Amino acid sequence: TLRCERVLQLTLAVIKPDAVAHPLILETLHQKILENNFIVVRKKDLWWRRKDSESFYAEHSGRFFYQRLVEFMSRQVCGPMRAYILAREDAVAHWRELMGPTKVYRARYTAPNSVRALYGLTDTRNTTHGSDSAESAKREIAFFFPEFSVQQWLDKEEQRFR
Ligand code: PPS
Repeated sequence: TLRCERVLQLTLAVIKPDAVAHPLILETLHQKILENNFIVVRKKDLWWRRKDSESFYAEHSGRFFYQRLVEFMSRQVCGPMRAYILAREDAVAHWRELMGPTKVYRARYTAPNSVRALYGLTDTRNTTHGSDSAESAKREIAFFFPEFSVQQWLDKEEQRFR
């Protein structure tokens, strides 16, 4: 018998405030997620307080852009962001490929059809975030969706295909 196997991976994707603020871009990005066969496992619109932003980006606290990034991602400065838990084969790598390089000028040269090349404005207003590994996806999903258990979801999914 043929067995249809798919190994799903979860990632955390964020549409940043600059892209959420533009209804057409927000809708385009949402469609892109669906067209690329991601399963939308969870989705929420939210604001961060400054301390959430500082803590999420703590690993970059020494970098020259830290303050700018922290402020941009918190409520005092910008509107809401949208967070997704997405599932797919190779979800982490696939979402990062769709986003393109962090820096918008580089994205425009090297990946002109990527999200950041098409819709990014600056290195801060670069439209999206995506976890960079399965490990950070787990941590970031817990940060945005504390009530969600990655392991439980993956176990359930595996059982459905047994
Ligand atoms: S690095 O060098 O690989 O650690 O950097 P990278 O992972 O590409 O970026 C880490 C996050 O910092 C943001 N970033 C910036 N923000 C503002 N200005 C500048 N110049 C800048 N460079 C990097 C970048 O968008 C990453 O944030 P997220 O939310 O993960 O996209």
